[in-house]
Amino acid sequence: MTAPVRSTHPSRREAIRAATAFAIAPIGVAASDPPREAVSPRPILEAVPPPPRTFEIEAATVDPFGVPTPAITVGGTIPGPEVRVTQGELFRTRLVNRLDTATTVHWHGLIVPNYMDGVPNVTQLPLGPGELVDIEFPLRQSGSYWYHSHVGFQAQQGLHGAFIIEERHPRHEVDHDVVVLMSDWLNQSPDGIIPQLRGEQPATAAVESDPAKGWRYPGDRPYAVDVVPAGITINGRSNASPWSLRVRRGDRVRLRLINGSGSCTFRVGLDDAPMKVIAADGQDVAPVEVGSLAIATAERYDVIVEVDRDGPLILDVAALGTIHRVSGILHTSPSVPAIKRSPPAFRDPVLGVGNYAPLRAAEPNTIPDGPIRPLEVVLGGDMKTYRWSLNGEYYPTKFVPDGHAAPLEIQAGERVRISFRNPTMMFHPMHLHGHSFRVLPRLGAWDDRLAPIKDTVAVPPKGRVDIEFFADNPGRWFFHCHNMFHAEAGMIRQVHYTT
Ligand code: C2O
Ligand code: CU
Repeated sequence: MTAPVRSTHPSRREAIRAATAFAIAPIGVAASDPPREAVSPRPILEAVPPPPRTFEIEAATVDPFGVPTPAITVGGTIPGPEVRVTQGELFRTRLVNRLDTATTVHWHGLIVPNYMDGVPNVTQLPLGPGELVDIEFPLRQSGSYWYHSHVGFQAQQGLHGAFIIEERHPRHEVDHDVVVLMSDWLNQSPDGIIPQLRGEQPATAAVESDPAKGWRYPGDRPYAVDVVPAGITINGRSNASPWSLRVRRGDRVRLRLINGSGSCTFRVGLDDAPMKVIAADGQDVAPVEVGSLAIATAERYDVIVEVDRDGPLILDVAALGTIHRVSGILHTSPSVPAIKRSPPAFRDPVLGVGNYAPLRAAEPNTIPDGPIRPLEVVLGGDMKTYRWSLNGEYYPTKFVPDGHAAPLEIQAGERVRISFRNPTMMFHPMHLHGHSFRVLPRLGAWDDRLAPIKDTVAVPPKGRVDIEFFADNPGRWFFHCHNMFHAEAGMIRQVHYTT
């Protein structure tokens, strides 16, 4: 790779600029390339130190639920390493692809320049086998986010992790600040699921859902799912070796609850202890006490709990519509007590999927003046052919090769108002890249100044939701259902800024 500097004696300043441009260019460089001879007496690539961290993306075989299954690890673990950074910093990492297929990493919920967004063939070329790339972007936000591959089902196969941006001036004093990243696992390749749902391949237990027997929600209603994982985990741990945290009576604990699953909605409770919700999708909300949460794929909630007792507090997570659950434990005793548990009773009030009403922004927000761009987005699906659509169009994917979905066009400076309508029987966690949006508490409540700000919103079956954002981050952005099987079956659009 030649640096774009022509002068034979670049000043130091030019050299740094040139090298920086190189470092952030989203182009794969073969990891095995031998070092090249410097063409100038001062090798300009040395002006920028390598990133302080590296994501080594590797294939592995793991068996969290008894069946050895191909997986993708980052740095040898699932989930990948937790990123902990501080607001205002420059985030830098090197991605090394040791797979024999292409990959990318998307920074979910982060406001990044379009070319750092990690969507293959939309914002960048995929990172090929044996290639590496350096990623760099400023951290404008704070809060709980996550990263994941945006290639096929790689995220579900393990390529995901927490991305925590600490506040520059901490707003909450706590004794522990920990990630609770919840994931689902299939004892088979996720690539076979859509063909099974379509009846093109023999069905396995993963597509034989029986919501009537699974965890119900809301209230006593069955929760519709189309894919049943083999099990679920907290920070990569199953009930066989539960996640635990040693605490003391009187401690305040911040739990960063992240749903990193491929397609599960999780009900989460902490024994009979109230949880104070302080943030949703990384954004501060007016603190509100809840008994439990219902968290869709890709959503995050930060909660603060007080350890009001000696003895264990059990963190329960159930995958709605399935019979699966997993527990973790906060314990005051020096050793980890065994978790013996009859099915948990999740307490009310519940916040999240199907009930965002208790969420209010911590500070009044409005979006700048500008022309209004109204967009209606109808969520659709055909269970027989197992294809999912937005406004009747199917995005082309491996599983929808004949798909065609026109981009939604917006212009910089517009106030974009999206009205979702969901005539289907399922919840759809809709996510827009590169932006956060106001989720209106009632249809048409555009004037509500305390609408919570999120990046993923679950639109309920037979329901409608209005969201609003300011178009201030030009580029081509993915916009899709975060249920991975719905997305791969066509439920995606691009949002394009036009001039
Ligand atoms: Cu979590 Cu397309 O994103
Ligand atoms: Cu969906």
